Amino acid sequence: MRVLIDTDPGIDDAIAILLALASPELDVAGITVVHGNVPVEACTLNALKVLDLAGRRDVPVVTGAAAPLVRQARHAEAVHGPDGLGGLFPPPDDAHPFAADAAAFIARSLDEGEEPTTLIALGPLTNVATAILATPGLTERLERIVAMGGAIRREGNVTPAAEFNIYADPEAAAIVLRSGVPVTLVPLDATMRAIFPGEAAARLAESEVPVERAVGRLGSFVSGVYRKYYGIDGFALHDPLAVGAAIDGSLVSTEDLWVSVETGGELTAGATVADFWHIPEPWGEPNAAVALDADGERFLEFLCTRLFGRYPV
Ligand code: RIB
Ligand code: CA
Repeated sequence: MRVLIDTDPGIDDAIAILLALASPELDVAGITVVHGNVPVEACTLNALKVLDLAGRRDVPVVTGAAAPLVRQARHAEAVHGPDGLGGLFPPPDDAHPFAADAAAFIARSLDEGEEPTTLIALGPLTNVATAILATPGLTERLERIVAMGGAIRREGNVTPAAEFNIYADPEAAAIVLRSGVPVTLVPLDATMRAIFPGEAAARLAESEVPVERAVGRLGSFVSGVYRKYYGIDGFALHDPLAVGAAIDGSLVSTEDLWVSVETGGELTAGATVADFWHIPEPWGEPNAAVALDADGERFLEFLCTRLFGRYPV
């Protein structure tokens, strides 16, 4: 499967990119970077750092939007650290060149692709919405969008109502959901069922194997944040589960639902609103396959086997 990854690395993004590169089912045609966990410049350097670790600087990295379509940029340094990767990676071997204009790269890459392309979106949807708005016919050329985002039947993680990726650019998310492109949405309902244990991260952090040590140190860093905020000894594999769902849909259980995004609310901006009952009539035809649950244990084995060649770790 040919994929493009749009991302805001970010600790879980970094693990998701490593998983994608370690998965033989995926041909990663490019990585576009978006504002999100940290400013887009830092996210771009982080994407390069992860590709250096994987020995995959052959994968093009393209910088995208530095801010949402309408609102002020919102970041998550409290979770990912000031540089977005817990300060745990050396600078990239070569921070240049990388092009800018992710939306144009997405459109061009779809034209160049000799097979259908799936876009895996791991951050705010600003680049994806911009590509859709700027490129006539793009929605017919995209095979599917698999997006980590939203909170359907549970509270948000950045406000009580909203999950970070959607909250960071609600207008962009609304545009993507009404675009007509087949969407698989992987919200917190599923990703909070896929927890990487803190003690496993601590063991990996002592490994001599670079990718094990890197994932272990990243995981230990963010597990400390989860212990503080959630009382959980571990961290949620938000973005890696979206990659997993793109590869093996049986890792999550989905329902086809009409979903849209609150863009006007003061308290509820970024809330993802799903119509389960069509009462008294449908709010709209289903526009997304929404993952409402995940097989967390099976995904943990899926991830560790691909990244480390063993499970448990
Ligand atoms: O809410 C989780 C999402 O927000 C993940 O994509 C994480 O990387 C952050 O971007
Ligand atoms: Ca992300």
